[in-house]
Amino acid sequence: DRIKLVINHVYDFVSEKEILQQADNATAANRALHDGTRAGNDFLGWVNLPSSVTEDLIRDIEDTATALRSRCEAVVVVGIGGSYLGAKAVIDVLSSSFDWLQHERKDPVILYAGNNIGEDYLHELTSYLEKRQFGIINISKSGTTTEPAIAFRLLKDLLVAKVGGEEARKRIVAITDASKGALRTLATTEGYKTFVIPDDVGGRYSVLTPVGLLPIAVAGINIRELNKGATEMEKACGADTPFEVNLPAIYAAIRNELYRRGKKIEILANYNPKLHYFAEWWKQLYGESEGKDGKGIFPAAVDFTTDLHSMGQWIQEGERTIFETVLSVKEPKAHVTIPQDDTDLDGLNYLKGKRVDEVNKMAELGTLIAHVDGGVPNILIEIPKLSEYYIGQLIYFFEKACGISGYMLDVNPFNQPGVEAYKRNMFALLEKPGYEAETQAIKKRL
Ligand code: PA5
Repeated sequence: DRIKLVINHVYDFVSEKEILQQADNATAANRALHDGTRAGNDFLGWVNLPSSVTEDLIRDIEDTATALRSRCEAVVVVGIGGSYLGAKAVIDVLSSSFDWLQHERKDPVILYAGNNIGEDYLHELTSYLEKRQFGIINISKSGTTTEPAIAFRLLKDLLVAKVGGEEARKRIVAITDASKGALRTLATTEGYKTFVIPDDVGGRYSVLTPVGLLPIAVAGINIRELNKGATEMEKACGADTPFEVNLPAIYAAIRNELYRRGKKIEILANYNPKLHYFAEWWKQLYGESEGKDGKGIFPAAVDFTTDLHSMGQWIQEGERTIFETVLSVKEPKAHVTIPQDDTDLDGLNYLKGKRVDEVNKMAELGTLIAHVDGGVPNILIEIPKLSEYYIGQLIYFFEKACGISGYMLDVNPFNQPGVEAYKRNMFALLEKPGYEAETQAIKKRL
């Protein structure tokens, strides 16, 4: 069983024939990801990653997770961008929304740091951790990113002060490049357990490496099933898969065709709040991969029905430069029905006995029709249920589609030169050694 792509609601805007005209282009882009014949071909390690994950690696990750789980009530994932979003996305989708409030927890609570430079955030986090048994997974591919480096320095100091150097060493894991970067040097010097981020896998494509798998396993989620789902999708969109059955290629072709027709913004909508961070992961994947050379669809996201009471107005009647991609979950885990009330003061008895999800599904269908009527093309991705297996499929689906889509747009989907601009200015303003000339130049502009 697989996730499905429902595309009949784009036909009011682009015809099947027009989509098929993109088929050759999309198929060639898909093939190039396998052959390594286009830009960024040194970052294609993710393409065959799910099927090549070894039993040894999975076991090493599971054993490390078990060790952290036995020692820690809380584990802090330190990382930014691709070094935390995948883990947070999967953990949020597959955990109970209120688990973190339980005192008697089966799984350690997973917290995040190094994804901002908020002083209050770090203060509040360290205050919370002072009273907890905690561990740290420090993730940085380059090993030199400022945000996680600051957070790690603070958290490591706290941990060593709390439990001593020897115990702290058992609770810290570093995930970084095999040999380069300050984090590798630090981990070797301190003797931390480490995992390697493969050279040919960029941050935003790294969720199925130890970057995502270790925190996900620590949270008590089955990483074998996650990888199995990803492997299933990898096989379903190989180099020779015909366009008509290649879901990532179809999605990439449609979004590029819509973009050519002036639909500059893609809104990823969900009707299940657990998917909020999955959309954040998706935004990073597509934003960083496609937004360059003056081109690229702007990836936005909404949680419905919550945002139907805010952004819904804009989507229905604002500038017609948007299309919508809906993550539709067929079957919720739980079963909650709306009770009968004899007084019916709230007028809700017409819904009595219905599942909450039946109402949600009608909101979804009603919104879809309203938005299509309002001029918003709709692509729907149907996910049978929120399980490790289908989330694995969905992750690989979006990664593959992103690579194809970037090549169709004629950009390098695997670099991010634009993220350096703010760093240069920040380092110049902070007078980082080596930035003397930049410091002088920027100060003149203040
Ligand atoms: O996708 C990317 O490459 C980026 O978002 C990185 O993941 C992010 O900048 C963090 O980099 P690093 O892992 O080197 O600290």
